[in-house]
Amino acid sequence: MVQFRLPKHSQVQKGNVFKATSDSPTLRTFSIYRWNPEDGKNPRMDEFTIDIKESGPMVLDALLYIKNNIDSTLTFRRSCREGVCGSCAMNVDGTNTLACLKHVDDISGPVRITPLPHMEVMKDLVPDLRHAFKQYASIKPWVQNPDDPKRERKQSKEDRAKLDGLWECVLCFSCTTSCPSYWWNGDKYLGPATLLQAYRFIADSRDTKTKERLDSLEDPFSLYRCHSIMNCTNTCPKGLNPAKAIGSIKKMMVER
Ligand code: SF4
Ligand code: FES
Repeated sequence: MVQFRLPKHSQVQKGNVFKATSDSPTLRTFSIYRWNPEDGKNPRMDEFTIDIKESGPMVLDALLYIKNNIDSTLTFRRSCREGVCGSCAMNVDGTNTLACLKHVDDISGPVRITPLPHMEVMKDLVPDLRHAFKQYASIKPWVQNPDDPKRERKQSKEDRAKLDGLWECVLCFSCTTSCPSYWWNGDKYLGPATLLQAYRFIADSRDTKTKERLDSLEDPFSLYRCHSIMNCTNTCPKGLNPAKAIGSIKKMMVER
């Protein structure tokens, strides 16, 4: 049988262990991916045991506690700490999610935290999202309408409702990085987050560039590499349905 192994310098090794300093009943252990591009060493999993009564209940609280009290070099993105900015996306306990929305109590046993999968890592839990954001920019994520109204453009309640389930996306890329199709074809396939955003503007009654938007997705890769695997919808920490948005674009392609 064929065996696949990571190259030697990429194999994840056992890292440092930081033991608890008390015997509180609310101790929890966090196993966290560490990699520093500047030290030339392999990635490793460090283990921190902390009292979540002191840190706070969410995974992001624990990470902040560890950074502030145990190892200030631990690197991750965060800003709003309430599921709005999308920056704290990472893989927690095997699922891509927002660390600030994930309760430690919802996870049994040691909490394993790694960066979003199949992205290049810049340091520790920080993935390189430059390519993903370039793809996002490619769909022109703004209302295009040559009219120059003197006031805001109005929408009927029904047209406004068509944007529900789309505008809430915080661009965390949890969905995109959970998608096997994106893992293999991410250079040309736009992935669920960007396609959900594309549909958000296609569905907007104020936008007049529907034809151009559909034209730009009409090739073998940008849209059609979606095979409805559904990982995107299952993982979205905001409860959105990118697979449905992609299906709606495909339907419009067929019908036009
Ligand atoms: S659809 Fe959900 S998982 Fe995907 S980027 Fe938006 S909020 Fe994140
Ligand atoms: S810190 Fe903003 S979404 Fe988690």
